[in-house]
Order: sequence, then C-alpha cells, then structure tokens
Amino acid sequence: MTEAIVYEKIGDIAVLAANNPPVNALGQAVRQGLVEGIERAEKEGAKAVLIYGEGRTFFAGADIREFGKAPTEPFLPDVCTRIEASPLIVVSALHGTALGGGLEIALGSHYRIAVPKARMGLPEVLIGVMPGAGGTQRLPRLIGIDKSLDVITSGRQIGAKEALELGILDKVAEGEPREIGLAYAQELIDAAAPRRAISEMPAPEPVDFDALYDAVLKKGRGLLAPAVAVRGIQACCELPFAEGMKRERELFMELMATDQRQGLIHAFFAERAVGKLPELKDVEPRQLAAIGVIGGGTMGAGIATSALLSGLTVTLIEMSPEAAEAAKGRISGNLQGALKRGKISPEKFAELTEKALTLATDYAALKDADLVIEAVFEEMSVKKDVFTKLDAICKPGAVLASNTSYLDVNEIAACTSRPEDVIGLHFFSPAHVMKLLEIVVADKTAADVVATGFALGGKMGKVSVRAGVCDGFIGNRILSKYRTCADYMILDGASPYQIDAALEAFGFAMGPYAVGDLAGLDIGWAVRKRKRAEGMDPRARDFTYADKLCEDGHFGQKTGMGYYDYSAGAKARVPNPEVMPLIEADRAAQGITPREFTDEEIVRRYMAAMVNEAARVVGEGIAKRPLDVDVTLLYGYGFPRYRGGPMKWADMQGLPGLLADIKSWAQDDPYFWEPAPLLEKLVAEGRSFDDLNKD
Ligand code: NAI
Repeated sequence: MTEAIVYEKIGDIAVLAANNPPVNALGQAVRQGLVEGIERAEKEGAKAVLIYGEGRTFFAGADIREFGKAPTEPFLPDVCTRIEASPLIVVSALHGTALGGGLEIALGSHYRIAVPKARMGLPEVLIGVMPGAGGTQRLPRLIGIDKSLDVITSGRQIGAKEALELGILDKVAEGEPREIGLAYAQELIDAAAPRRAISEMPAPEPVDFDALYDAVLKKGRGLLAPAVAVRGIQACCELPFAEGMKRERELFMELMATDQRQGLIHAFFAERAVGKLPELKDVEPRQLAAIGVIGGGTMGAGIATSALLSGLTVTLIEMSPEAAEAAKGRISGNLQGALKRGKISPEKFAELTEKALTLATDYAALKDADLVIEAVFEEMSVKKDVFTKLDAICKPGAVLASNTSYLDVNEIAACTSRPEDVIGLHFFSPAHVMKLLEIVVADKTAADVVATGFALGGKMGKVSVRAGVCDGFIGNRILSKYRTCADYMILDGASPYQIDAALEAFGFAMGPYAVGDLAGLDIGWAVRKRKRAEGMDPRARDFTYADKLCEDGHFGQKTGMGYYDYSAGAKARVPNPEVMPLIEADRAAQGITPREFTDEEIVRRYMAAMVNEAARVVGEGIAKRPLDVDVTLLYGYGFPRYRGGPMKWADMQGLPGLLADIKSWAQDDPYFWEPAPLLEKLVAEGRSFDDLNKD
C-alpha cells in the first residue's frame, strides 16, 4: 500500500483517504493506491468504500508534473473502471475542487456527495484536450446530452448546488468530507441501496452530432478541443461503453498532438509565471485597504468599480460636483451589471455604493489613501498638475499610480518629491471587466511599490504583467506596430474588410478595423495628429483616409458609422460605402497600384509585425520575458488563446522562416521591416523565444 492513499476500515466501510498534498493530484502513487485500496476492501469484506481527500481538496486533477512523460500504469481510465466494477458500494465525498480526472474518479464511483462549497468540472478543453478517463462516456449517461455538452465544452467550474441540480451529485451536506461521506455510506448500507455503475446506465439517444460539432467549432472561433469532445459524447450515444472508452482515448490522443494544445498549455503556464519575478522574492507589499481614484471617466469609473468589488474602500476625485455625480452614475451602472449577473446581492450593492465609495472634489480627501490611481485626461501637463497635488497631500508611503496609456512615467514621477513611490498601473477598458493590468515600473520605483501593484492586481482578480517605461509600454507599443502594418496593407491593395475577416479566421475575437470602430476612431486620430505635430520620421509611410473618415464625423459605433455602417445594429457590420473611395483616392494620390493580398499573407505580415516589435520590447527589457508579451496580448488584445500568444506562435512557425520573410519585405520598406536585433540573435543561435523564458 502506498502512502498517497491511506486505508482504514471503520465498521463495514473501507475508507480510502487521499494524502498527496497540496492538491491530491492523481499521480501514479495515488492511482495505484486507489486500485489497491478497492482490492483490499473487497478482500476484507467491507460493504462500502468511501473515497475522499485529506487537506484542502478532493483530487484536483491530473498530476501536471507527469505531463509530457510516458504514462505509467495503472492508467486513470482503468482506475475509474476498476472502482466502478467493484461489487461494493463506492461513495466519493467531494470538497475543494474536483476537476478533470478528479471528477472522473467521482463518476467512476456509484454515489457522490459534496460539501456546499465544493466545486467541480471537466476543464480539459481549456488546455486543449478533452476528458480522457471516461468523462465523455459517463457524464452523458448520468445527466443527458445537453447538460453534459455544456459542462464538457465550456470546461467551466460548477458549484455543488448547481451540480446537485444537474444530477452530477446525489447529495450535498455541511461538514467534513470524511464525516459526511461516512454518514452517507452508512445510510446507503442501511437502505440496502444498489451498486450503481454509470457505465451500465442506458446511453442517451443520438442527435445530429455533425451539426453540433460545427456549431461548437464556430462558437470557439476554431478552437478544436470542445468540438472534438462532441465526438466523444457522440461515441457515448452510439457505441457500447467499452468501445466508447476506446474512441474517447483516440480522440484524446488526437488532441494531444495538436499545436492548439501546445498553445493552450503555454498560456496556462505563462499566466502562472507572469507574477513570479525574482525582483519581488521576499518583498512585502505595502498596506492596501483604502484607495483613491482621480478622474471618474470611462477608466476611473471602471477602476473604482473593480476596487470596490475587491473589497477596497474608494475615494474618487472629480473636477466638479456635477462630474462627481456623473462618475457615481457610471460606477453604479457598472455595479448594477454585477448585481444583475448575481455577482453581488442588493445589500452588497447598497454597501458598495453608499459606504465603501466616497466622492469628492477636494484632493484633501486623499490624505489617508494607501494608493492613488490617476485616470485623468491623457495630457502630460494635466498629469503633472495632479501628481504635484498628490505629492503635497498624500501620506508618506502612499503609492502614487498613473493609468496613462502612453506617457512617460519617469517624467510624471520626477515632478514629485518621492519618485520611488510612483508607478504606472495601466488598466484596460472596460477596467472592471478586462483582466489585464500592466504594472509599469519606472527607473526609481521601489520594489515594494511594484509588489503593491501586483497585490492590487491579485485582489482585483487581474492578470498582472510587469512592463518597463516606453511609448505604449508592452501592449500598446506592439499594437501600434501591427495596426500600422494593417494600414499599409490597405494602402497596397487589401481592404479593411478582408483584413478583419482574415484575422478573425485566424482566431482574433475581432479584426482591427472592427475594434477601431468599437473603441472610437477619434483615439487613433488624436494619436496621429500628435505624432505629426511632433514630427514623423520621414521614412515612415503616411496616409489620410482614416483622418478623412474622422473629419466626416465617423468615429465608429458611437456615431453609428466608421469602417462599418451600424445603422442596422452593432452586430450587422455592413461596410461603410464611403470607406473604399477614400482609400482609393489615397492610393491614387500616392501613385500606388493596388495588388491582391491572400488571407494567408495578411495574417503572416500582421503577425510578423507583431512578433518583430515584441522581440524589440523583450530585447530592450520593457518586457522581462517573451511570456510576458504573450500574456499581455492574450488578456488585453483578443489574441486567440489557443495559439498561445505571439511569441509562442512565432516559435511554432519557426523563427528562421519568419526572419527571412521580414528581410524580404524590408527590401521594399526597410524602415518598417527592420529586423529586431533579438530575433536575429535567436535565429543565429538556433534558439527560440521559449528558451528565453527558461533562462
Ligand atoms: P475620460 O475622458 O473618460 O475621463 C477622464 C476624467 O478625468 C473626466 O471625467 C474628467 O472630468 C476627469 N479629470 C480630468 N482632469 C481632472 C483633474 N485634474 N482632477 C480630477 N478629475 C479630472 O478618459 P479615460 O478614457 O477614462 O482615460 C483616462 C486615462 O486613462 C487616460 O490617461 C487614458 O490614456 C488612460 N487609459 C484609457 C483607456 C481607454 O480605453 N479609454 C485605456 C487605458 C488607459
């Protein structure tokens, strides 16, 4: 008997307690222990078996440390089958998170009970695979096609209450898993309850699985795993159980071999690695209870909402009582959304809007704040004025943060007497929804201020990425480059609609021109005007069609017209007939003969522009590692998660080929396509971006 499963016999009940901290992952010793425990229970004449987890959870899933290694016996599907085949009544008692293989063990058991706080699910599709230990074969037999389709293809976590309603659980009870499990097992023995193997239950009637497959693939914008999982459910309905298990395995192995799985696994580990910075080891964050927000526009209101929802008290400063009232309206509106979705109760809503939030027009209200985030207009003079006031009023040690998108945080810090307390906290719009937070570390920012930024991100449920100071930090700097690449392709012959369609087919949530319409075309217009005023590099190409569109009052969705015409609704996306003539006029004025672009070339150029700039961002130390870029693009810019991020994508494409393309395009436009030194270095050394993640 291994120690990972501790066997004990209490009366008629054999107890198998998992003891594999921290999360009772289903490693080899655990699997072996389960099989041995069942055998021993049968030999020792028990009437029932109870399986539960010691510590914080039931089996939380497969053992990630075994990923990528040759599997060792006993294999998990066989363990589930062995548990289920036992003539004894097998009960699983769940607490913590019973995910993936953990839930599959429970489904191999005959009865399932859980504590009210337990959560469960089959999240395999989120890392590009599918349940592989009978999940797709047992769950539909237990709860039917529709419900299991939702559980399996979404990969979402389900609370005990909902699991009971769905029929995944037989019972929910307060208490320790061991105690409720023992009581339930005894109850079943006393009632002479039958052994109840899910594999022996009738399978649901088959439906049109081809249509279902197509629908799931479309919904996931090309994400394979949930669609392939549909085929698993199909096998459950059409094949005998043992055959279905074989088919499930085949499908699982097919997914294991895909690039998508590699991309998703990379994303999974990258988002966990992103907050682990050597510079923050052993650094304690500063106190964080009361925060201040300056400016209650789009961003300030979103940031305040997010802070309130994470349990912080917020003092928001606006320019006038009217503006403060408007800001309060925005925050209430955001919180109404949370109320509607059941995320907060009406009492909580009242508490957050009335007690936790204070509005003021006088900066003196910020004297006790632990951290202040400025979200006023994007103008250096306004920001400097705000930081000068903060410097005079805030208590010593208060963190002073700016939400600036592009401006120099060093310059902002320099106007205070305490640059070590100044940092950039760059949220994304809408700030209470978007998960990304760029933590912009200026030259003099103290380590514990950086740690406090990460602590704030953690409290708010954000994915925080460390960035250095430059124009646009990590995300917006790279964005501006690949957006420009798209604009150049338009000048040379592509249409905005072809570009959007090609990139949406690649997996982006929205193409760049649809995004522009959503965010407001006036933002880019202002940036272009600023850059022209500052003096553009004469080697850079310029164009006017986008400005003309704005001059005509077309700012995108908010004016009903941009690259698309929204008169039939935001989703209709009919091309605006004014756009192509403007583009054609621009081409004619510049003497450009338009040429055809294939969708493939559009994606290749757009991605190459992104990767090349990202390589500069890493090379200059703005991002510490390629994985920081990947996480930024995944969480802030709609990059398809199943491609892992631009750097992972580039590695999978092969860096030499990408560099060769960049060099060939540089012959026509050496300024735009100048290869990043880091990309050239990696190719010369035969290394990948991922190698840098491991350095
Ligand atoms: P906004 O124009 O919606 O809001 C700015 C607010 O600041 C206004 O309500 C204004 O009354 C207030 N304000 C201006 N000066 C003030 C002062 N001295 N004291 C108190 N309040 C003052 O602008 P938005 O979009 O919220 O942007 C704010 C900042 O966030 C900018 O730096 C912007 O670059 C940045 N940002 C914007 C994003 C976006 O998508 N809109 C995304 C990320 C950052």
